[in-house]
Amino acid sequence: MSNTDDPASPSPTIAKPALMSIDDAHGLDAAQVRELAAAHMNPGQITTLKLLGFDRVVVERAEGMYYTDRSGRRILDFFGAFGALAFGHNHPRILAARATFAAEHRHELAIAFLSQYAATLSCNLARIAPGDLDMVFLCVSGSEAVEAAMKVAERAAGPKRSTICYAQNSFHGKTRGALSVTDSDFYRADFRLLDNVSRVPFGDADALEQAFRADPGIGVFIAETIQGGAGVVLPPPGYLRDVRRLCDQYGVLWIADEVQCGYGRTGRFFAFEHEDVVPDVVTLAKSLGGGKTALGAFIARTPVYMKAYGSPKSALIHGPATFSGMGEACVTGIEALHVLYDEKLIDNAAEQGSYLLDRLRALQAKYPTLIADVRGQGLMVGLELADLSRVLPRGTRAVAAKFDDRLKGGLAGVVGALLLEEHGILVAFTEYNRNVIRLEPPLIVTRAEIDTLVDALDSILDRGFTRIALDYVRKVKAKRG
Ligand SMILES: Cc1ncc(COP(=O)(O)O)c(C=O)c1O
Repeated sequence: MSNTDDPASPSPTIAKPALMSIDDAHGLDAAQVRELAAAHMNPGQITTLKLLGFDRVVVERAEGMYYTDRSGRRILDFFGAFGALAFGHNHPRILAARATFAAEHRHELAIAFLSQYAATLSCNLARIAPGDLDMVFLCVSGSEAVEAAMKVAERAAGPKRSTICYAQNSFHGKTRGALSVTDSDFYRADFRLLDNVSRVPFGDADALEQAFRADPGIGVFIAETIQGGAGVVLPPPGYLRDVRRLCDQYGVLWIADEVQCGYGRTGRFFAFEHEDVVPDVVTLAKSLGGGKTALGAFIARTPVYMKAYGSPKSALIHGPATFSGMGEACVTGIEALHVLYDEKLIDNAAEQGSYLLDRLRALQAKYPTLIADVRGQGLMVGLELADLSRVLPRGTRAVAAKFDDRLKGGLAGVVGALLLEEHGILVAFTEYNRNVIRLEPPLIVTRAEIDTLVDALDSILDRGFTRIALDYVRKVKAKRG
């Protein structure tokens, strides 16, 4: 008998578990956050954060170029969430667009009905993208954009050309398809991945041509326009034009992964525009969501898209997914693009980027032993510090190797930790070369903020390696909780 038949019996209820509230979250201190993360998230990650001293920070607010922690200390953000914060934190115009959208109770999920917001964002991206890069697929992350781009290109290339060629030292994401073209034994970790892939050196047009000639099954080539995870590595001038020419000659479709280097960061909206070429598919994510929402996309040339999914029969093969074009995400993306141009942030990326590179090169001239290289374009900059084995006396190299291994990139990690501890400046490192400090600040960064960073680096490097290491041990390691 159901209890609706018996008005006297109480309706069964599911007891609410002891859930933590938003207020509980606000009230957690650093030790409590660490404890919860260790118990329920990724305990191993905390070890690395501890080495850097990053585990002691609980962020209270974030605005523009700055985080503010619980104690009221401001932290200048030169990390920029791997390039996902073109607008800095909580840009007021982007916040306002989101608030209005929510207040007006607009519709979110574009599953039953088409979304005017997804259509508008797609139209804007097509208007920005050169050539006939006109067909947009919206999703929620860089990895998903790469997955979708690989699939659209593979279908357009056809079953006889389904081999996907990728570049050495690439990073395209950690989902299974993206991982299959990501050149890292560490991340691949013996997973069973796609076998229709082949690898070529990055930036080497002759090697690319050899690969195309040797294997007519190659129908797709994917590469980051500037390699991020590899340590901010630019291809030699002319390479992208060669890629376009070779892809045309051998009938290969070119996917430019601009998840990290795109969206204005290099001083053009797309980094490939520096060479006046147009790929067949381009991926975007990170700052596309205005720093407020998870948003990714691919933009494909119309003939490529139509070949893959153009008919009513093939239209649903890849999309729409449940979250292809959430209303609030698309409105965020639309407003963000307006802010990008209204505030001339792409121009600022070019101008401040070249100032940052100039100042870092001057620093390299001052500390040639400690700084191995400075490279980048716009506000995608890598500062490569020397291997510990180069800066330490012979007798101490075994210790250095141990230190290097634990910190996964000795000197850069130590300098990064001191930048935060002493100067309240946040930087990050690149995936495969941990000796590279990755500088991808918001595109709103000013010359004065760049001076603050470079002066802080100067004051640390000026101590010489031994004192840097001692200061690290004294100030960062000693405080480990
Ligand atoms: C070039 C490139 N492609 C893809 C990805 C994956 O993006 P996501 O972390 O949003 O999945 C990244 C992430 O850093 C990236 O740099």
